Amino acid sequence: MNEKEAKKNNNPSKILSMKRSSDNNLNTLTYRINLFQVNMVNPSSMLDIGSQEGQFANMVYETIGVKDISCIDLASTVVESGEKRFPTFKWYSGDVITFDFPEKYDMVTWLNGCFSFEKEERKLVMERISSYLNDNGYLLISYGDVNFEVRGMSLEDVIDEIKDFFDVINVIKEFEYYPMLCDTDFKGHKTFGRWYTSILCRVKE
Ligand SMILES: C[S@@+](CC[C@H](N)C(=O)[O-])C[C@H]1O[C@@H](n2cnc3c(N)ncnc32)[C@H](O)[C@@H]1O
Repeated sequence: MNEKEAKKNNNPSKILSMKRSSDNNLNTLTYRINLFQVNMVNPSSMLDIGSQEGQFANMVYETIGVKDISCIDLASTVVESGEKRFPTFKWYSGDVITFDFPEKYDMVTWLNGCFSFEKEERKLVMERISSYLNDNGYLLISYGDVNFEVRGMSLEDVIDEIKDFFDVINVIKEFEYYPMLCDTDFKGHKTFGRWYTSILCRVKE
């Protein structure tokens, strides 16, 4: 992550707006859990990257029953609040690219964050994440693509962008692509999200 991006992510008003989004937009996060259910993925342990205060992780805990949950977020204030909110989770504050996790996980999830990396960084990022997966572990990445809309991209453009993402990393054994048309009102604004893209992956052995 470049310095500008890191600064942007640690900006208090940006942190607050991301917290509100994670708190208020739970229905779109819930949708991602369906992917666990339809694929009968039942991990024993999970790491949520860019976890915010653990809103998604907690839904996984409540819905799927995953008990061993770890969360990492770049913003230390977010991690402090998360620790208070969900004290049974393991909490880490830091940059996922450089952080050394003490264990491996059956499932790594990364919602609404991974696509912000530049193409050059993606390979590195995905390789690092892959190294924290247990054998036959799953990776779920997902994005609410308000940016795609703003950039005037069609669904086909979005799919191309995702394929490009995987071409870069070349570590995926299989993936399924789940677009979701999401018409969520966000605090009365219809501006939030249209196509939510989720990809459930396994890493090549
Ligand atoms: C847009 S929010 C998404 C939050 C949550 N995953 C969701 O979908 O509601 C992105 C989060 O990722 C965190 N983040 C950004 N870059 C990160 C990095 N390199 N390592 C760890 N966390 C990161 C931010 O601090 C922020 O809380």
